[in-house]
Amino acid sequence: MERKEISQAVVKRLPRYYRYLGELMESGVERISSNELSERMKVTASQIRQDLNNFGGFGQQGYGYNVKYLYTEIAKILGIDQNHNMIIIGAGNLGQAIANYANFEKRGFVVKGLFDVNPRLEGVTVRGIEIRNIDCMPEFIKEHNIEIAALTIPKAKAIEMAEQAVACGVKAIWNFAHTDLNLSPEIIVENVHLSESLMRISYNIAKMERNNK
Ligand code: NAI
Repeated sequence: MERKEISQAVVKRLPRYYRYLGELMESGVERISSNELSERMKVTASQIRQDLNNFGGFGQQGYGYNVKYLYTEIAKILGIDQNHNMIIIGAGNLGQAIANYANFEKRGFVVKGLFDVNPRLEGVTVRGIEIRNIDCMPEFIKEHNIEIAALTIPKAKAIEMAEQAVACGVKAIWNFAHTDLNLSPEIIVENVHLSESLMRISYNIAKMERNNK
């Protein structure tokens, strides 16, 4: 199907649709109207129609959406109908926690290797994945067709390591280091900052307290 460019705002919402549709499928629901989906997701029905119309709609008047079809189509749009090989640079607390989370694999994100500078970590395995010396990374990326590198190292070395991974063929950086990477525009960078999320919580707590006074 010919698809027009989908806005980043819609792309941001797609994983949530995907999650809800997955839950509906698990509970045996075969079709759903935009109104019912709207009630469950606490998003307006018109927003849902608008979002899903972006890629052909998949809905039929009076029938609603075919849950399985929509689920499959969204997976294709998100590119999670295929596997993406990933490495983790920095096998400390965060890197190991990510490697330990088996569910990413269910979405097609396969952690192939973990890399660290600390020689004491070499040879240790996390969920069966071996931690290797960082010097092995360039060869490993090429050999294992690695698309994504998760960056879970201190910010001092983050830019250098991201550039190194990109030079070896990595297409995307999942950046947890607290620094902007400024890589060339064709490299996909997704910054994840849990502390920003927490700051939004603290802002809203403060707002709630002000309103209750
Ligand atoms: P950690 O100290 O447990 O692990 C960092 C690991 O990186 C260490 O094992 C270290 O040997 C390794 N390392 C350092 N330089 C390296 C290099 N050039 N190549 C490969 N490995 C290298 O720290 P933790 O708690 O795992 O945090 C890692 C980073 O992630 C920190 O910079 C922290 O600020 C950040 N962080 C970010 C969060 C976020 O939401 N974005 C949440 C938690 C931590």
